Amino acid sequence: MNNIEQTLSIIKPDAVERNLDNEIKEMFISNGFKITKEKKIQIEKSEAENFYKVHETKPFYNDLCSYLSSGPIVVMILEKENAVLKNRELMGATNPKDAKEGTIRKKYGISIDKNSVHGSDSKENAKIEIDFFFKD
Ligand code: CMP
Repeated sequence: MNNIEQTLSIIKPDAVERNLDNEIKEMFISNGFKITKEKKIQIEKSEAENFYKVHETKPFYNDLCSYLSSGPIVVMILEKENAVLKNRELMGATNPKDAKEGTIRKKYGISIDKNSVHGSDSKENAKIEIDFFFKD
């Protein structure tokens, strides 16, 4: 019943650049997520390459890593029951064109690359991604 999980969320450069980070954080909070840690940072391309290593064989990998390191991002640990799945529902489809009304990517996403937010896709990856940004 009580299945409190943590997941990693990133507000991507396109959204931070448009000063949407507070509005997006409000969407998480009003949907019952607790933001237990957060920081605004800019990462090197090499760090983005490590973060997105699962995509290294994909044709979009290079552009994706250049993009994530192109400006400030906000990284957060979100906590809620079934947080991984609930966050994916709230974000909406990867391509904002396909995202449902009421989702973050529908509301704010510009394109499949500039889709405003990233969220872990499994409990296992959530742990890896949280450690990536928040391991002391
Ligand atoms: P994200 O959830 O951060 O995970 C990987 C990112 O790759 C994804 O969001 C998209 O922004 C980006 N991307 C670019 N092209 C594609 C594609 N064809 N399929 C999936 N993701 C893509």
